Order: sequence, then C-alpha cells, then structure tokens
Amino acid sequence: MNAFSFYNPVKLIFGKDQLSKLKGELSLYGKKVLVVYGGGSIKKNGLYDSVMTELKETGMEVFELAGVEPNPRLSTARKGAEICKKEGIDVLLAVGGGSVIDCTKLIAVAAKYDGDAWDFVSRKAVPQEALPFGTILTLAATGSEMNSGSVITNEETLEKYGWGSPLVYPKFSILDPVNTFTVPLDQTVYGIVDMMSHMFEQYYNNATNTPVQDEMIEGTLRTVIEVGPKLIEDLTNYEHRETILFAGTLGLNGFLQMGYNGDWASHNLEHAISAVYDIPHGGGLAIVFPRWMRHNVKVNPQRFAKLAINVFNVNSEGKSVEEVAYEGIDRLEAFWKSLNAPSTLGDYNIDESKIDLMVEKAMVYGEYGNFHKLNAEDTKTILTACL
Ligand code: NZQ
Ligand code: ZN
Repeated sequence: MNAFSFYNPVKLIFGKDQLSKLKGELSLYGKKVLVVYGGGSIKKNGLYDSVMTELKETGMEVFELAGVEPNPRLSTARKGAEICKKEGIDVLLAVGGGSVIDCTKLIAVAAKYDGDAWDFVSRKAVPQEALPFGTILTLAATGSEMNSGSVITNEETLEKYGWGSPLVYPKFSILDPVNTFTVPLDQTVYGIVDMMSHMFEQYYNNATNTPVQDEMIEGTLRTVIEVGPKLIEDLTNYEHRETILFAGTLGLNGFLQMGYNGDWASHNLEHAISAVYDIPHGGGLAIVFPRWMRHNVKVNPQRFAKLAINVFNVNSEGKSVEEVAYEGIDRLEAFWKSLNAPSTLGDYNIDESKIDLMVEKAMVYGEYGNFHKLNAEDTKTILTACL
C-alpha cells in the first residue's frame, strides 16, 4: 500500500423513511435554504411535495433553483450563486442525482466568491469558503453524495471537467432506496455501469500489497453483477434498489481507494466525449472502458486476469494469463450488453468527424492515467476503437 490519510465527514443517513431526519439536519445551518433540483422527476414522483412538507415544519425560508441539466451546466451554477448572494442563503439542499449534487457543490463555493464559478473548475482559483449543503439522493451512480468531487460542463466552450475541494463534502446525505424507484430503466443501467467503472478505475492501480482493498472491490463488483440484472427486471424491488444504492455510494466515497491512486483515464476520456456530444456519462463509460482495458492488458496482464477470475468467474485452466485477461473483458462487454447498455459511439450516432476535438479535450492537462499514462496517440486509438 501507499501511505495515505483518509477523511470523509459526510453524515450518511440511509434507509426507508429517513426523510424525517431532514428537519433536524438542515436547521443546524441557518434560516434560508436554496433547494436545487433537476428537470422535474421529483415533482412527478412526489418527492418534491414530501421535501417541502418537511421544510415547512422547520420554519425556514425556502428558495428554489429548478432545471439542473444532466451533465450540469456552468450557467445554471452561476444562476444558483447569484440567488445565494442576492437572497443571503445560509444553506443549500440538493434533491436529485449526481448532476444536481455536482451543480450544488459549485454553487456552494461560487456563492462565497467574487469571481466567476468557472475559475474553480478550470483550476484558476482554489475555493477558500463554501456554503454548507445537504443532499437527498434520487439516483444510484456517481457517489457524489459522499465525496468532494463535482463535474461541470461549460456549454459555451464544450468543456467538461471534474474539480473538487474538501469544502464541498455534503454535511449530510439522505439515501432512501424508495426515492430511486422511479429512475427509468436506461438511467438505472447507466448508474450500474458508472458505479462498476468507479470500481474498475480504482482496481487498476500500481500499489503492491492491497489484498483487503482488492477483495472489497471484487466483492462489491460481484454483488452488482448479481443484483443488477434482477433490478432491471423489477425496478421497484426495494431490496435490489437498496443494494445498488449502497454499492454506488461505496464505489466512490474513498473507502475503496485507501492505499493507492486509481487510474481514472477512462473517466477523463468519457468526460471529453460527453463535453462534445452531451451523452449520458454511464452510457459513454460502457463504450470506453472495455476499449481502455484492451488497450492496457499488456501493461499488467496478471491484474486483468485476477479481475477475470475473481469477478467474472473465468476458468483459467490451460489458458495463458493474457487469454484469461481478454476473456474477462469479453465477459464484461457481454454483461453490459445484456443490460442493453450502448457498446459503440455509433449507438449515439457519433462518427469520426470530431475525434481530434475529443482528443484535444482529453489532453488538456497533458498525459493522464495513473495505472498507465495515455498520450494523444493512445487516446485517438482508443476513441477510434469505440466508433
Ligand atoms: O433532472 P431530473 O428530472 O431529476 O431527471 C434526472 C435526469 O434526467 C433523472 N432522475 C434522477 N433521479 C430520478 C430520475 N428520474 C426519475 N426518478 C428519479 N428518482 O435521471 C437523469 C440523469 O440524472 P443525473 O443526475 O444526470 O445522473 P447521474 O447521477 O448519473 O449523474 C451524472 C453526472 O455526474 C457526473 C457525470 O459526469 C454526470 O455529469 N459524475 C460525477 C461524479 C462525482 N461528483 O463524483 C463522478 C462520476 O464519475 C461522474 O463523472
Ligand atoms: Zn463515473
């Protein structure tokens, strides 16, 4: 293992009927709350009304920012920051998926800053202060509910980058599996692909002696592979939603990454694709990740073979390490196809015309990937294999 410090201050409130805890948690942080949400799913499924009922009991003054887009946009975060400054907001409440939470994180720091919100995403400025915020998660996928990262799209420049700060850990996150019942089939699948991809990103690292971490990732992946197909056949099954919700949070709250740096190249590459084409993050990962794996098997075939055997149950008898490794990748592709996840960029009508632009976006901070560095040529090769 590498030396590490672990810190995660998020109060995780998990389970049925936990919304009643909202009052007590939120009122610790002031009198004026800005509720941030997306395009209307919470109004359709009744969560909006339940949240408003709880908020009424706090006696807090409630402001709203609706319409956060999937792949949340800079202009929306700017709008949120303006409301906070104008109204003297004390605390934010994100009600939604990763996009709503990520947008709220940027609002939280931009509200306490005189310059432009993009300065934080583009690394021109480091946040010094933030408004506190809580979340009510409605979609299992990103882990944003229990981490300090955020991914924002600048729709004017077609840039989509992750940024983070210890100041944007949520103060609390309420996760009730029932609030994920209405997530449609396609978004449920994207969420499964995303959380699995987070586990793969972390599995591919260069540390030695990480047997506990390896087992934790392999076991969580096996569980998602077992439960995911059952869930997509039965979208309102409480137990399956509960399992997948917990797996998504565990996938990216820092627990699985103690003692090493994950790779994260596939995420960088997918963000470049969705910056240019605005496709769902999980859909993009389903296309990119198997290609990244094929491109990198030779870096450390044993690592890929270990995943193949321990997660995808590949029988290694009489096979070379590389054969086992590739069989594992075949099984991953077959698994995601069985969930009806996209498998080529063509599934989103994306052709080769903007490959160079996507390469440019992926290379903006230079070579990337901690398990194995990718340069522009590698990036183009992988993207071309994705077509
Ligand atoms: O906008 P509404 O109407 O709420 O609908 C959303 C949206 O259309 C819908 N939805 C969410 N919960 C629902 C629901 N529909 C019905 N019932 C519910 N309970 O689902 C759609 C997608 O929502 P979104 O929040 O965009 O999905 P997700 O949670 O997958 O977030 C994706 C974003 O997070 C970023 C991605 O790049 C992308 O921008 N990521 C953030 C990370 C982080 N902060 O740590 C890490 C990830 O790797 C990822 O990059
Ligand atoms: Zn992701």
